[in-house]
Amino acid sequence: MSTTERASPLPHYPFSFRGDDGLAPALKRFLLHEPVAGVVTNAGDPAWLVTGYALAREALKDRRLSRSTISDPTMPQEDMGAPPFAVVGTMHMLRTAGLRDEAVKGLSPRQPYISLARVRGIADELLDTMVRNGSSGDLVEDFALPWAARTTCELLGLPREAAVELGSWFDLMATGPVGDEILPTAWPASLDRFRTWADNLEETGLLVCLKRLNDTSPQPLSQEQFTEIGQMLAFSGLANPAAFLVACGLALARDPELSERLRLRPGLVPRMVQEVYRWAPLLGDSIARIATEDLVIGHVHVKAGQLVMISTDAANHDPAVFPDPERLDIDREAAPHLRFGQGSHYCPAAALNQMQTEVALQALVAGMPNLRLATDAPIEWREHHAVLMPVRVPARWA
Ligand code: HEM
Repeated sequence: MSTTERASPLPHYPFSFRGDDGLAPALKRFLLHEPVAGVVTNAGDPAWLVTGYALAREALKDRRLSRSTISDPTMPQEDMGAPPFAVVGTMHMLRTAGLRDEAVKGLSPRQPYISLARVRGIADELLDTMVRNGSSGDLVEDFALPWAARTTCELLGLPREAAVELGSWFDLMATGPVGDEILPTAWPASLDRFRTWADNLEETGLLVCLKRLNDTSPQPLSQEQFTEIGQMLAFSGLANPAAFLVACGLALARDPELSERLRLRPGLVPRMVQEVYRWAPLLGDSIARIATEDLVIGHVHVKAGQLVMISTDAANHDPAVFPDPERLDIDREAAPHLRFGQGSHYCPAAALNQMQTEVALQALVAGMPNLRLATDAPIEWREHHAVLMPVRVPARWA
């Protein structure tokens, strides 16, 4: 097949918004039988979906697959309601203004803005409050979202009082019909709000440092560009880290034996974090690229201008690389998962997120030794969302 056109209608991607049923059956089918397959997107456009590990890894590194071009409205789109995310050009814009190195340093484990002790302190404080308030609570609203919002505010230097509102921004990652409905008003409103925060930064933080450098740059970012980049960093610090911490907490609440093992041997927590990066589906969208020239991916001829969507959730479940992929196994050999992408856009905050999640999980296993789900009902997940996240995770600890 050389184009995304075929006789029968293309299947619609994404296939599921649940993150706790393993890989969606349709994704699994494609992964095993058609690792580059034609699909149709939320925007109604045809696209190629890459699910196999080796092909996904190559595609992520392939410079003929462009990320900046996905914001070109004349190109096929993954989502209609998607905001004009500065994310696609963030690092490039920072580089042009001479701020990239400082940004990368500020998102690395050695950044000077928020210590691991402080990240642990925030987790301990939230867990103490939950325990003080009773014997059950919600791992989403009471723990993961405020933890991610507070650590992000301190990392970036956003005003402390912004943390509560930042937590609620998770819903701005809506896609499909939900995104179409809320984003036209909610997105500009969040940008306005962010402008106020950016005018009232704390004394230290990554944005404070970048703003200072920008003021003396020969090619400074405009105020608008700076605001969009800051807002994107705030979203990045909130959404994936919160959803990922929930994925870890949910796995522990469902597996008391594993939870107890980690409590007794906290040195195993880094293995848990690595394995959950691989094992837990987190994508309600994909990592998207536009082909800038004709190329071949697997057996498929991709034409210049076509949309290519890479599912790292599927790639991380490729049995050719990860035997028995559905099993959460913290003892498996160190796995080269693709959770943070690959190649030139590899997430600059990967190592930082890993260390911060480790201390938050250590706080969770120590602070809630008897963590369990407080319901037998299926967990409800947010529908039409770029990052898979339950509405709530009712948990008990006594
Ligand atoms: C669980 C946590 C996280 C996950 C799973 C994650 C995932 C990713 C992935 C897959 C990419 C590559 C996207 C692509 O190739 O198109 C990426 C890029 C990026 N991430 Fe993260 N991320 C996480 C946390 C963070 C945090 C905490 C920040 C900052 C506060 C951040 C900032 C960025 C930036 C700026 C890029 C763009 C890099 C570039 O274009 O060169 N991420 N992230």
